[in-house]
Amino acid sequence: MNRMFLLLVSFLFQLAILTSPVLAADEAATKKLLDTQCVSCHKFEGKPESKFNLKGPDLMWAGNKYQRPWLIRWLTGKEENLYPNGYRWDLSRTQIKHPVLSETNANAVADYFEKHFLDSRIKKSFVDLSTLTLREAEFGAEIYKNFSCFGCHQIKEDSKKIGGPISLNLYDAGNRYNLDWWSRFAENPQDFTPHSGEYLADLSMLGARYIIGYLMTLGVDDFKYYEPWTSEAFQKAEAKRGEPIYKTYCAQCHGAEGKGDGPGAAGLDPKPAVHSELPLSDYPDDYLYNLIFYGGKSVGKSPDMPDWGMTIPEQDLADLIAYLKKTFKGE
Ligand code: HEC
Ligand code: HEC
Ligand code: HEC
Repeated sequence: MNRMFLLLVSFLFQLAILTSPVLAADEAATKKLLDTQCVSCHKFEGKPESKFNLKGPDLMWAGNKYQRPWLIRWLTGKEENLYPNGYRWDLSRTQIKHPVLSETNANAVADYFEKHFLDSRIKKSFVDLSTLTLREAEFGAEIYKNFSCFGCHQIKEDSKKIGGPISLNLYDAGNRYNLDWWSRFAENPQDFTPHSGEYLADLSMLGARYIIGYLMTLGVDDFKYYEPWTSEAFQKAEAKRGEPIYKTYCAQCHGAEGKGDGPGAAGLDPKPAVHSELPLSDYPDDYLYNLIFYGGKSVGKSPDMPDWGMTIPEQDLADLIAYLKKTFKGE
């Protein structure tokens, strides 16, 4: 027994001698590579600094920031420059040719980043991309316009670059950023890059979800949007359960029989739709869903038709839509 134990210990000891120097050598070699080829332009430790003191973006959080395939493409020279005017728009206004690594070194660097350059402020994002709808991404695009993002970051419209070239382009953001990093960045950009502005500071949580989600779709051609009207709730919807929901939320304007004569109708212009005359049975599910969930304004109708997404739970909404389709056939 004792002998077995000693044998085991000596075996483990030898194994340790055999393996650890190899690992350490790899890591040491990678660290040396960073020290000799990268630190002249990038900071890997310390506090974030104004770009006016820097030669390249800070990389203290490099282990959290990128999607690995993008990082490898960047390090091996397969990506376009990010900054249209060069990183420092106040200096030469020319782009550098970034140092290029071999595939092996790029992977070693990515491993090293993932192990040593993690930022403890970065937690799991509150945005669940698997439930992002196309309509939400479109709201995000509106925010992008209304919150000045165009002013400094280029994106593509019909493959044409548009927007001011002050900071880096975002047309491929969905293939570049790790969602968790970008969500934390959006919370307060100044925590990462002083002088980057606080353009998102007065957004609601929902608005933040839209703009964060929107950026994660940029450049991702096959992004899978969530289609709530195909969910399980809709598959097992029952018109019967939808009737009391209609009476609770819709009758006040549309009238108990859908004749557009609820007590709220009097002062409204345009008048609430007369459901009893509309073939709602033939209206597409996504249209009815968006109209009711996000309100009339989301489908080009009057904003007096309210949004119910925060009020009516998913199954109730599915039942309500089933009720509309079964009851109102335009006859
Ligand atoms: C001569 C200065 C210089 C050197 C040396 C350099 N970089 Fe860079 N790096 C830059 C600049 C400038 C950018 C932004 C370039 C652009 O897209 O326009 C950048 C961008 C990056 C980015 C993307 C940053 C981001 O989040 O936008 C990564 C990652 C990166 N470099 C890693 C490295 C690594 C690893 C090395 C060493 C092998 C290295 N760099 C060496 C100047 C340098
Ligand atoms: C006045 C110019 C300006 C405006 C407007 C602006 N940004 Fe920025 N943004 C910056 C600067 C500067 C940085 C820091 C990166 C750099 O050095 O250019 C930055 C960084 C970012 C980054 C992180 C980039 C990276 O890889 O490190 C994202 C994402 C971003 N901005 C998104 C937005 C969004 C979304 C909006 C609109 C709500 C917006 N920005 C509005 C100037 C601007
Ligand atoms: C505060 C009043 C009000 C309430 C409550 C209300 N609506 Fe409306 N609704 C309107 C108005 C006003 C319009 C007409 C919009 C227009 O024509 O631009 C409308 C239009 C509609 C339309 C027709 C859209 C079209 O394409 O013509 C449908 C369907 C509809 N509402 C469903 C509902 C449902 C379902 C509820 C309950 C969850 C509801 N509404 C609650 C005011 C209301």
